Amino acid sequence: MNQWMERNAKYTLVDADSQFSIAFAGMKFEESDLKALAPKFERATREMARIEAGEIKNPDEHRKVTHFTDRRSYPESELFRSVQTFAEEVRSGKITGETGKKFDAVVVNGIGGSALGPQLMQFAINGPYWNEKSDAQRNGYLKIYFLDNTDSAEFADLLEVMDPERTLHLVISKSGGTQETKNNMIAMENFYASKKLSFARHAAAITMKGSELDRHARENNFLAIFEMAESIGGRTSETSIVGHVPAALTGVDFASFLKGACRMDDWTRTVDPEKNPAMMLAAMWYIAGKGKGDRNMVIVPYSDRLILLSRYLQQLVMESLGKAYDLDGKEVHQGLNVFGNKGGTDAHAFIQQLNDGRDDFFATFIEVLKDAEKLPITANTEMGTYLHGFLEGLSAALRGKGRQIITIQVPEVNAFTLGMLIALYERAVAIYAEFININAFHQPGVQAYKLAAKGILALREKVMAKLKELGSVEGTAAEIAAKVGEPDQAVEIGGLLDKAAANCPCVSRRFCKKSNAWIYRIG
Ligand code: PA5
Repeated sequence: MNQWMERNAKYTLVDADSQFSIAFAGMKFEESDLKALAPKFERATREMARIEAGEIKNPDEHRKVTHFTDRRSYPESELFRSVQTFAEEVRSGKITGETGKKFDAVVVNGIGGSALGPQLMQFAINGPYWNEKSDAQRNGYLKIYFLDNTDSAEFADLLEVMDPERTLHLVISKSGGTQETKNNMIAMENFYASKKLSFARHAAAITMKGSELDRHARENNFLAIFEMAESIGGRTSETSIVGHVPAALTGVDFASFLKGACRMDDWTRTVDPEKNPAMMLAAMWYIAGKGKGDRNMVIVPYSDRLILLSRYLQQLVMESLGKAYDLDGKEVHQGLNVFGNKGGTDAHAFIQQLNDGRDDFFATFIEVLKDAEKLPITANTEMGTYLHGFLEGLSAALRGKGRQIITIQVPEVNAFTLGMLIALYERAVAIYAEFININAFHQPGVQAYKLAAKGILALREKVMAKLKELGSVEGTAAEIAAKVGEPDQAVEIGGLLDKAAANCPCVSRRFCKKSNAWIYRIG
């Protein structure tokens, strides 16, 4: 055996039953690097056990972290059964919209952890053209759309294809107060009212008990309200009710998805870190980035169905690991950049840089072994053979240049393997967080962003009220800021006026070349 083969055999972990494998040999590390991590492995093993024992592992929010354990018992729960029943009653037409028409589409309104998992699952399992399929091809399950921002264009685009009488609205917000989600709900309620229809008779919610959304849904008699456990975080909620309801409404085998996740949970409880894929994955991230995230993680699935995986992992990894302070309150500014798209195609895009440019990354290739179709290209080759060839060719070329690679193989993209992939990364993130001593389960930066937006909205109210008092006003942003008594906020006020000029008939602007500034006229 040559050295590469030996190394590959030593550092490839295989779950033969599920045919899931992960190969670390293409990363730059030695056995001594793993041995040096022994104290970190020990700590991570101990802390993962504490998480699974239900101890408080999100100290800032003083909460448990139960997504690893809840998913094992979830299929036996009353909640699971109630989701299955609800979905079946929607599908069969027992539950209908206000006018008695059978639902044929669901709009999922949520953001971040309340959207990315369901989006990944839909694309991976039902494929890109699900909504174009006939009712019979969908087997009576619903088409699915997403509202995951506070962008009027996204909303307008949806209205162009949405039949309000036949659409079910699933509002997902753990906290029940997220502004973007609330905005879409309010705008949709207004739209239904304009059509003389009741939004509530077309709506269901997933949220924590007692939240603003929970109260709203109860007061208005939504068709269903599903409770989300406080101990499950947004970005780790795909194996909970958040993933389940959209899956059940669109015919995805959620029980199989959970089985896949639980299989990975079992595998990644392996005590020997070198036989534990999540420990090894976290170790690779740590060694490659010197424990400071000095290398970018590039996710390259050789599968169109997995194109949203990098977006999903970007949130899971970066919202979990991108932290200013460690658990001892020391300023550390940790993080790990994640980007990616899809293999094959990207050889014509960013892979140029991976090949020849900055050596500041490690790539993770994900190969799907079984071809969806046999499509002969020549007498001896098929479409899938080429995809494999491109993967192997790129992998060898990158390794030849000393670039670093992890390779995952899955037999096919299905609910089970998707469950395995998601659980693997959830656990690697939790383990890596222990290596670097941070809380992976809170998101203070996101809260700060929410507050900053509130500040701008409050400034807008103040400026608009003052401008109303002043009547007709003209000037640069700085002049207007001075007039309304906010001279230090000229840049922000300029931004507000740019937006207003495009949207309010009472505000206009012209560009003055001489002063190189916009001149605004209000009133
Ligand atoms: O991972 C997280 O906690 C976030 O991305 C949340 O999922 C996101 O902010 C949405 O929150 P909520 O579900 O409370 O509306």
